[in-house]
Amino acid sequence: MSGRCSGGIVLSLPRDYKGLEDRALELAGELSSIPSGERVLVVSHLDADGISSGSIIAAALIRAGASPHVRIVKQLDEGALKEVSQVKAKYIVFTDMGSGQRDLLKGFGSEDTKLFIVDHHQLPSVELAFPQKENSSAGRLFELNPHIFGFDGSSELSASGTAFLVAKKMSSENSSLAPLAVVGALGDMQDKGEQGSLIGLNASIAEEAQKRGQLTMKKGLKLYGFESRPLVKCLEYTLNPFLPGLSGDEGACFKFLKNIGIEPRKPDGSWRSISDLSPEELRTVTNGLIKYLISQGAQGRDAESVIGVVYTINSEGADSPLRDAREYASSINACGRLGRHGLGVALCLGDRAEALAELRELLSEYRRTISGYLRWLEGSKESIKIMRSVQAILAGNNIDDRMIGTIVSIAFSMKPFTRSKPILGLATSEGAVKISARGTQELVRRGLNLGAAVRDASERVGGAGGGHNIAAGGQIPVGKEDEFLSIVDAIVERMIGGVRL
Ligand code: C5P
Ligand code: C5P
Repeated sequence: MSGRCSGGIVLSLPRDYKGLEDRALELAGELSSIPSGERVLVVSHLDADGISSGSIIAAALIRAGASPHVRIVKQLDEGALKEVSQVKAKYIVFTDMGSGQRDLLKGFGSEDTKLFIVDHHQLPSVELAFPQKENSSAGRLFELNPHIFGFDGSSELSASGTAFLVAKKMSSENSSLAPLAVVGALGDMQDKGEQGSLIGLNASIAEEAQKRGQLTMKKGLKLYGFESRPLVKCLEYTLNPFLPGLSGDEGACFKFLKNIGIEPRKPDGSWRSISDLSPEELRTVTNGLIKYLISQGAQGRDAESVIGVVYTINSEGADSPLRDAREYASSINACGRLGRHGLGVALCLGDRAEALAELRELLSEYRRTISGYLRWLEGSKESIKIMRSVQAILAGNNIDDRMIGTIVSIAFSMKPFTRSKPILGLATSEGAVKISARGTQELVRRGLNLGAAVRDASERVGGAGGGHNIAAGGQIPVGKEDEFLSIVDAIVERMIGGVRL
């Protein structure tokens, strides 16, 4: 049984794996029967899981003979639908979005347009209580979402995993796409099992990939490229977990190593990497890093999460930013969030020529952008609002609305934020306020459902929103920020019982 919470009511639904598989097969049958050469529009979200799930469906369609056209959007709203409707297609697949916007999609396209939803977001609350197993694939709309079948899409299966289930039913050759399903799940931070491992259906996909020799899972320091790169670079490049004060700053990483008594260079001046360290020195690096993170405000367990399961994609080159699956996820996140969607999709579809060189440049821009926003946040305490049950960053125009979610996730490891309340980021763009909200597993365990809270509060001030219990988003009209925050604060207080510092 899976327990979930909608607006404070805990719901339990039986898990129905057979139902999930049958629905995947139904979608696969429809997608495989699209006439060869027919244009199919794939619309997806701009984050790592969005880009990888859209790419999984696109790769499976290409293999089946269709001509997919991928469009990456910030969110699925009327504006986005208007934009994508310029691409004439009789078949449209929405990945990593759609389940929460079904009403909007009902009138989309012409009567003979076939619509597919491959999503893992929560269903609207009425459907959470009464999931439309039989009817949701009726007529011209075909939908696969683990929530319909009692699986938790926020922790057990990403959109990429959901897309992978369909792709595998389209052709067994699509098993080659399993690493992308792992990348999507890690990008959505679904590694909430013991020692940062994937759980549920995500874990099954990873295990299968390991058996096929595509993936290696090994416990170690979760620093990007730890086995191959110079130590200084591992620290500088790692974004998940984010290392405040180190990520993106080579000089600070050099000083950190020196301070803990580790010489970053060999006597001949070249950089040292893990293979140059004695076991004692490796312990010094690990303990030094944990102590450093605690000094930066992380709690013991979070600081220790720098050690965990490392997912390595065996076919990628030793120094490639795509070899460590967490770095792969950060890489395509960077593409999505810095507006280089095409590059993200190209990488997922296997382009390793110029695309890799472009990616390396983009990643350094991404690290610089994040550091810049964090510096702004550190110097703008007046933009931080600590309320009874939530904390907020009022970023205005200072943080790009595509980056606010990333900054909110990082803020949990920064002062003055606490992990005992969700954080909401508000960024203004194009005459609206973008909301990004993030919680913790502990808060979810206590009853937090951010998707329901943000959806409810946004709608009450004339906006829209939704998402997962642990991460949600939305948009509200400019000028409604305070009212929205008061409503969210009250809803969250009801859900988690009024947490105080
Ligand atoms: O649209 P989608 O489900 O793919 O996005 C979820 C978003 O929430 C991702 O950007 C993911 O990184 C973020 N997330 C987070 N912290 C969590 C869970 C998800 O930042 N604990
Ligand atoms: O945009 P952000 O990364 O903060 O979104 C967090 C989660 O909320 C994502 O899973 C996103 O797809 C979802 N979301 C939603 N409806 C919105 C905005 C975001 O379901 N209007």
